[in-house]
Amino acid sequence: VKRAGLIGDPVDHSLSPVMHNAAFAELGIDVRYELWPTKPGDLTNVVNSIRDDQILGANVTVPYKQDVFDLVDATTAITDQIGAVNTIIPIGNGLLGDNTDAFGFMTSLREEADVPHRAALVLGAGGASRAVLVALREMNVPMIYLANRTEQRAHDLVQSLGLKSIEVIALSGVDEVLGDVGIAINATSLGWHDDASPINEQQFARLQSDAIAMDLTYRETAFLRGARAAGLTAIDGLGMLIHQGARSFALWTGVEPPVEVMRSAVEAEQRRRAS
Ligand code: ATR
Repeated sequence: VKRAGLIGDPVDHSLSPVMHNAAFAELGIDVRYELWPTKPGDLTNVVNSIRDDQILGANVTVPYKQDVFDLVDATTAITDQIGAVNTIIPIGNGLLGDNTDAFGFMTSLREEADVPHRAALVLGAGGASRAVLVALREMNVPMIYLANRTEQRAHDLVQSLGLKSIEVIALSGVDEVLGDVGIAINATSLGWHDDASPINEQQFARLQSDAIAMDLTYRETAFLRGARAAGLTAIDGLGMLIHQGARSFALWTGVEPPVEVMRSAVEAEQRRRAS
């Protein structure tokens, strides 16, 4: 049996094994998807171990997506734009680094909402924001406002991505742009840790009624609750997770991923963990 896995932090509670193992089982593909908890000092060895014939491929998650960029032999164009790898595909003896996060984001949005053609507001300038900013650019969003607690980090990110039509604003200054925004995206890690939201319900009420709120976490966060209370369409990150995974699966196997099977498996696991 071949193996695939997720290179990430040792305390990862990822839904990826459940999702991919359901897909392999559905298609009768004899592969086992595992968590590969990795300490920073072991990253190079773990990446190199993917060259083994018995490894189908790998995903990469927090905190290694950017580090792995330099450890693979080649990268795709979108990966170069994002500057981070979330999927490793062994090709012959070499490793190709790809990034399916922007695809997952765009596909999930297309599936779940009609995004009005106005500005986008991105909250957060960490690792999760990279793919989102590149995806918004691909979607021809007319203007992107980027707000981050640490403003300098937002400037650094914009520079490293080489993006245009993007304006860094202070978190305290979001009120001034909310009326222009067609989509507000919470790419901070706030929703994972506590019940705080970078924008509150009164602020959500300033958005036009057709605006979309998306949280990249897949939890019922204060951000999503605030958006819904203001009557907005609120989308969590589960669809993005599923579609980035489905794309990785397709890249490793060359076959059409059973997206609905993956979705059901992830939703069942979410319910199991909640109870
Ligand atoms: P990820 O890879 O998930 O994006 P990260 O790189 O650690 O994780 O980034 C976390 C993001 O959440 C950052 O934008 C961070 O803001 P700072 O750059 O100012 O640290 C944001 N974040 C985390 N905790 C926050 C908080 N309590 N309030 C506001 N923003 C927060």
